[in-house]
Amino acid sequence: MKIDIISVVPGLLESPFAHSIMKRARDKGLLEVTCYNLRDYTNYPRAQVDDYQFGGGAGMVMMIEPLVNAIESLQAKTNYDEIIYLTPDGERLNQKTANQLSLKNNLLLICGHYKGIDERVREHFITKEISIGDYVLSGGELAAAVMVDAIGRLIPGVLNDETSALTDSFQDNLLAPPVYTRPEVFRDWKVPDILLSGNHAKVEEWRQEQALQRTKERRPDLLD
Ligand code: ADE
Repeated sequence: MKIDIISVVPGLLESPFAHSIMKRARDKGLLEVTCYNLRDYTNYPRAQVDDYQFGGGAGMVMMIEPLVNAIESLQAKTNYDEIIYLTPDGERLNQKTANQLSLKNNLLLICGHYKGIDERVREHFITKEISIGDYVLSGGELAAAVMVDAIGRLIPGVLNDETSALTDSFQDNLLAPPVYTRPEVFRDWKVPDILLSGNHAKVEEWRQEQALQRTKERRPDLLD
């Protein structure tokens, strides 16, 4: 899968994909992430990419020309399945959307800044708008990083058996059950006996019960 990202602060996106599972996905050739600096696509002096909003009001707006230059020059090289704008007023990202997007070949992500991007870009180019939660970030970069991570780990071959996404929270609309590792006893806090029993069927049953109980307590909305 190829993910291209347009940003005014591409430096913010250097580290998130350079470690751990995202690094492995890239090293294996399963995920290719490239960040493009919007300022490389502006013809305005001093690499300007934002301007005052028509009608007045506080806050700058990302201008249409640099964005369209960037989008169209990338489109000339890649046929994108989706052009996604990260924005607090987008559709809330969840595991289902991450699953769906992980099956695509080419995605283009646009990171907003300031008051957002000129609405005409949204009307004419953006195919999907995604929010990572009901709070406002300084820009779309961290949201893009979250989204790429959530999608990237679902690409077939990225996770091995031990880290399989099938046992993640949300994958079956349930939160994940509690997990433990050595030592069996720390202070007087013991690991549940069932996990040490070696009875795989019982362990699985216990995990299912725990997942259900945890979901009922913490996120009953997932069971609706
Ligand atoms: N940009 C600013 N806030 C955001 C959010 N919550 N989700 C996605 N993009 C954003």
